[in-house]
Amino acid sequence: MHFSDDIYELIKTRRSIRRFNDKDVPDELLDKILQTAIWAPSGKNYQNWQFYILKNEKLTKFKKLYGKFWKYVKPTLENKLHPKILKLTENFFQTTGNAPVVILVFSKKLEGEEYITTIGSVFLAVQNLLLLAYKEGLGTCVLGRVTEMADQVQKLLDTENLEFLCGIALGYYDKEPPAPPRKEGRIHWV
Ligand SMILES: Cc1cc2nc3c(=O)[nH]c(=O)nc-3n(C[C@H](O)[C@H](O)[C@H](O)COP(=O)(O)O)c2cc1C
Repeated sequence: MHFSDDIYELIKTRRSIRRFNDKDVPDELLDKILQTAIWAPSGKNYQNWQFYILKNEKLTKFKKLYGKFWKYVKPTLENKLHPKILKLTENFFQTTGNAPVVILVFSKKLEGEEYITTIGSVFLAVQNLLLLAYKEGLGTCVLGRVTEMADQVQKLLDTENLEFLCGIALGYYDKEPPAPPRKEGRIHWV
């Protein structure tokens, strides 16, 4: 594992990590990452992202909800995934990969702002966060399906006035998965 100073290499070598070790992530480091991630561009400079950092009690409660949620996700994946991958996915749902931190990301709905711009702005900050974390030797995995349990998450955090966009599991790790190759035909010079 190497965490390059070269931004091109950093972007290409970041992987989604789904298994974390027990090493604690210092709050100071997490704060440094978040304070820098929010220098992302945003529509009308609304900076409409809201990050909730879960450690300790809220994290335990979240993990319990996420584990229970597997029974709703499983039938939608059963015929689509190889049994080995299904088992790994099940394990990830039931343990959140042992992540010592989960960040839940929301957007604040703003009057007069285009919906797509709102969502896009928040995900730009999310990508900053993923890259900064990786630069600091931390692994991350974006959790998208977790948005299907938005009601429970919003109750847990009292964020009913916000839109839940994704989770980010975060922590130190020992093993990196292989890089999934990039797909052809996504870049068009016209
Ligand atoms: C919006 C979004 C939602 C995602 N949701 C999940 C998820 O629910 N569970 C998961 O294990 N990975 C999730 N991922 C991670 C992708 O599976 C991963 O980025 C992709 O397979 C490419 O692998 P890489 O990140 O290692 O390049 C998500 C990624 C994004 C950007």
